[in-house]
Amino acid sequence: MTKYVIDGGYGLSGEVTISGAKNAAVAIIPAALLVDGTCRIENVPEIRDVTLMLDLLRNLGADVRLINRNCVEINASKIRTTKADYDMARMIRASYYLIGALLGRFGSAQVSLPGGCNLGDRPIDQHTKAFKLLGANVDVQNGYVFADCVGRLRAAPVYLDVVSVGATINTVLAAVLADGLTVIENAAKEPHIVDLANFLNSMGANISGAGTDVIKVRGVKRLEGGAYTIIPDQIEAGTYMAAACACGGEVLIKNVIPKHLDCITAKLAEMGAEITEYDDALLVKRTAPLSKTNIKTLPYPGFPTDMQPQATVVLSIAEGMSLVTEGVWDNRYRYVEELRRMGAKIQVDGKTAIVEGVERLMGAPVRACDLRAGAALVIAGLAASGTTEVEDISHIERGYEHIVEKLQAIGAHIRRVDVPDGTTFAKAQ
Ligand code: EPU
Repeated sequence: MTKYVIDGGYGLSGEVTISGAKNAAVAIIPAALLVDGTCRIENVPEIRDVTLMLDLLRNLGADVRLINRNCVEINASKIRTTKADYDMARMIRASYYLIGALLGRFGSAQVSLPGGCNLGDRPIDQHTKAFKLLGANVDVQNGYVFADCVGRLRAAPVYLDVVSVGATINTVLAAVLADGLTVIENAAKEPHIVDLANFLNSMGANISGAGTDVIKVRGVKRLEGGAYTIIPDQIEAGTYMAAACACGGEVLIKNVIPKHLDCITAKLAEMGAEITEYDDALLVKRTAPLSKTNIKTLPYPGFPTDMQPQATVVLSIAEGMSLVTEGVWDNRYRYVEELRRMGAKIQVDGKTAIVEGVERLMGAPVRACDLRAGAALVIAGLAASGTTEVEDISHIERGYEHIVEKLQAIGAHIRRVDVPDGTTFAKAQ
């Protein structure tokens, strides 16, 4: 077993460089299946979800070459099968993008129902609805989604009943090579949707309106190879901003798009951070005590649900009572039980967490139950007095590139420790 061991209570200072966006990378990599030619993708984060997605493409027969740690070339001209490996596909959420991409390019897809973080019910009814509207037959059997069509998909109006990042991206993927103009209404507006559209447009697609709630995709006959650089990760940046805020100190967060962080910047400023914006960096400074505030998570440009656990940790040591309302997922408070081990005073009532700030958290052994929950526990450990051990860190390493090294570089006392199975941490020291 490997865990993070954190000696908390130190301020953070220095610089951290943000990696490419996970949720853009896991959409753009399968989108390369739509391209006739070689795509070179730069600023790809070196994280487990990306490695898995690349392996899924290799398994289909795509030629996937790592040029360096953050650059990959993909050529999908020799795809052998449109059936994705069952076990690999069910390990990540984004494997569902293989359905839209394979269906759009080859007219058939067989992909197991996706996995990913357990955040409550995660249906894919809007994805399958869109594929059917575009003329596909879609069926779920024995854990697989089967989708196929005769010839090319046909464009259609697609109204999404809920604002869904995944369904918006999957509809775009399916529509890019379809016959005619697909209009997606009530589309999600996250930065990674714009990034996917920019990637596809740079390869010859005709997509307009990405970043608004109406996206128009005019089908083209083929996409050509090219090079593209993925945007910086909004949530990774927000996580380091929250860490600086929780621990105090001064951290320069480099390689960001400040506009994507407006919602996070505004809330951390309400909590007492001083944030200075530069062209592609943010300086986060916190010297005064933290103040309470209320947060409600919403689709972009609202406060991101993927920052809810990290922000709740900051509020858990802020003066006063804060309310956090989860507006996207049914069950995203599973980490609260772990935070209570560290002395946090948080009550959860349905989608609302009532957070009564305490003066200090105390180190404790805790378990990451999902990716962002894990990041939140790391922040809690950094701010707490004493030692925190975070277990189940594989969740964290699915989505944060070199988190230990990046934190160490800004003064955090964190290390990755291998503990032989059956040994307690104390014995392994
Ligand atoms: N929904 C439906 N039907 C659908 C699809 C979604 O009812 O067919 C509902 C969901 O149950 C949820 C809401 O719509 O209540 C929003 O879900 P969405 O589809 O937007 O989420 P997702 O595409 O599955 C992506 C990110 C998540 C992030 C959400 C919301 C990826 C791979 N995952 O998930 O990221 O929380 O958007 O922004 O892009 C993370 O990175 O830690 C993470 C969980």
